[in-house]
Amino acid sequence: MTEQFEFTTTEEQTGTVDTSVFGEETRAEARQIIARYPESRSALLPMLHLVQSVQGHVSPAGVQFCADELALSVAEVSAVATFYTMYKRKPCGQHLVSVCTNTMCAALGGDAIYRTLGEHLGVGHEGTAGEPGTEGSITLEHAECLAACDFAPVLQVNYEYYDNQTPEQALELVEALQRGEKPKPTRGPELSDFRSAERQLAGFFDDLDETVTGPSLATETVRGAELARERGWTAPSMPDDAELPPLPEKK
Ligand code: FES
Repeated sequence: MTEQFEFTTTEEQTGTVDTSVFGEETRAEARQIIARYPESRSALLPMLHLVQSVQGHVSPAGVQFCADELALSVAEVSAVATFYTMYKRKPCGQHLVSVCTNTMCAALGGDAIYRTLGEHLGVGHEGTAGEPGTEGSITLEHAECLAACDFAPVLQVNYEYYDNQTPEQALELVEALQRGEKPKPTRGPELSDFRSAERQLAGFFDDLDETVTGPSLATETVRGAELARERGWTAPSMPDDAELPPLPEKK
């Protein structure tokens, strides 16, 4: 049975959730994350990504682990984990395919892409085709604007972009993923898998040189900046003597 993100009152009251799936290495990495922030609780978002890099979703054990490490209540962690769509409540496939169905992409074919992939995979929003975590398993979701309207319609695999897609191209891409292939994204680094992407979102880049290679800009994206340069438009700079609030004491 798929593990759902739910706590019983008994578990909450007695703290019986087993967090042993998070070994010493993960606990050491959690401490590294916490050390980055003046207040421990500020580390919650990357901690939840770390949890997903281990389990492929935020399980009750993941919530308990974050609560223990950050001295927060289970309710506080759950409130954050259920607010953001990037935290998954069911185990994800090897790859997360996010199809933008927001206005620009929808008008240019995003809805058709989402429908085509849903029919091919036999799943709806946040459904997984295949055994979660195994090679070729795919979780499908429709997404709000992915901040790439200049390349609409777009989709992402593990948050890497595939621009100017058609339903046919998207289908070919997903079929390749199901065969265990990793087609190159239009921009950015080579494709990895969902759990590796989550590790990067937690702030751990195991191969930074590899991660930062690949084009990240396109003509369409920098057109505004080029026009501004040609016309001599500039934004006011930050004053050198701007007063910044003091950092809070580490808690
Ligand atoms: S509407 Fe799809 S990227 Fe903005």
